[in-house]
Amino acid sequence: MAAEESFDVYRLPEEHEAIREAVREVCAAKVAPNAAEADETGEFPKASYDALRAADFHAPHIPVEYGGAGADALATAVVIEEVARACAASSLIPAVNKLGTMPLLLAGSEELKRRYLTPVASGEAMFSYCLSEPEAGSDAASMTTRAVRDGDHWVLNGVKRWITNAGVSEYYTVFAVTDPSARSKGISAFVVEKSDPGVSFGAPEKKLGIKGSPTREVYLDNVRIPVDRMIGAEGSGFATAMRTLDHTRVTIAAQALGIAQGALDYAKGYVQERKQFGKAVAEFQGVQFMLADMGMKLEAARQLTYAAAGKSERGDADLTYFGAAAKCFASDAAMEITTDAVQLLGGYGYTRDYPVERMMRDAKITQIYEGTNQVQRIVMARQLLRG
Ligand code: CAA
Repeated sequence: MAAEESFDVYRLPEEHEAIREAVREVCAAKVAPNAAEADETGEFPKASYDALRAADFHAPHIPVEYGGAGADALATAVVIEEVARACAASSLIPAVNKLGTMPLLLAGSEELKRRYLTPVASGEAMFSYCLSEPEAGSDAASMTTRAVRDGDHWVLNGVKRWITNAGVSEYYTVFAVTDPSARSKGISAFVVEKSDPGVSFGAPEKKLGIKGSPTREVYLDNVRIPVDRMIGAEGSGFATAMRTLDHTRVTIAAQALGIAQGALDYAKGYVQERKQFGKAVAEFQGVQFMLADMGMKLEAARQLTYAAAGKSERGDADLTYFGAAAKCFASDAAMEITTDAVQLLGGYGYTRDYPVERMMRDAKITQIYEGTNQVQRIVMARQLLRG
């Protein structure tokens, strides 16, 4: 299929719609049923992982040459969107596998790619991304995790915080300072394995949402890794981290779409069933206007997200702008739509007997991670002002 044909933003190609149907089917049968329990217990939904893995939706973006499904950026977004519609925490499986491996895909040596992408493609291993630190969140370049060269090895020391799927993942892209005098130009990227001596994890964070996706600190205590585990050239790590986020902010936009769609679908069904004042509440114009606004915002977010996915696939020069815009717009829309879904269910919406309060809590993180929406606005403004 020609690239132009694959990214008609108004109507997805049949191939992509077929992927959507296939993911929706797997999720309805084997992911959605675990969503409330994962939220309640905070346990990683292993059954959902197994179902996604069996259908090859756990890391669909890995290229065919490394044993993957070779899904393009739009197909990967559709997979993440559909998994998120059923269970936001589970959608972090394909999303963070892409986030963790993107530095390798963008800048890694052929040998590193072969060694580490193949087990992710087969589902034997997951891959996390370690950029943030306790004192370096939005200001990522102020990180202090240090990598010091010692002969044929690098020795890493530091603490990474807010690491999605930490402990469950086998592999980690870790960004560390190799030249403290050079700020962002003194940061390099490495592959660290969970089994490397000196790697350990903090207690799971007690979060508002996405509870089935473990978030933990990663401690690096004199972790000694061979020099060939560096991703790209020394000092290129910060640019690799930013280039990665350009692509993966699109996947967070897709996750937001899915969460919002799940909430809209549920609320749509509810208002047609629920009767007050002698008729279904869907017959009241005030309720209809709310539904119309929710649908309108969601579709606008979807078109922007798919346009950004096309830019991600082609590597367009304006991807930085579009990735930030899609993530920011779709996550703000998801927060509004899920909040309105809770409102449409009234008192029932506020209880854990119905899924929309979970969706509202899950939506919140999409405005925060992979760069807060304030950071997305900084990124967009800088792009606009420079030309
Ligand atoms: N592509 C390539 N290079 C880039 C780039 C991009 N998109 N963005 C920046 N760079 C380069 C710049 O060109 C610059 O190099 P030059 O000096 O040669 O031009 C260098 O990197 C430094 O860039 P800035 O001066 O713009 O850096 P800054 O310190 O002002 O920071 C920022 C910019 C946009 C605020 C950045 O720090 C940022 O994105 N912060 C948010 C971090 C973030 O998103 N964290 C999310 C963590 S991951 C996560 O949340 C995962 C999860 O759990 C699911």
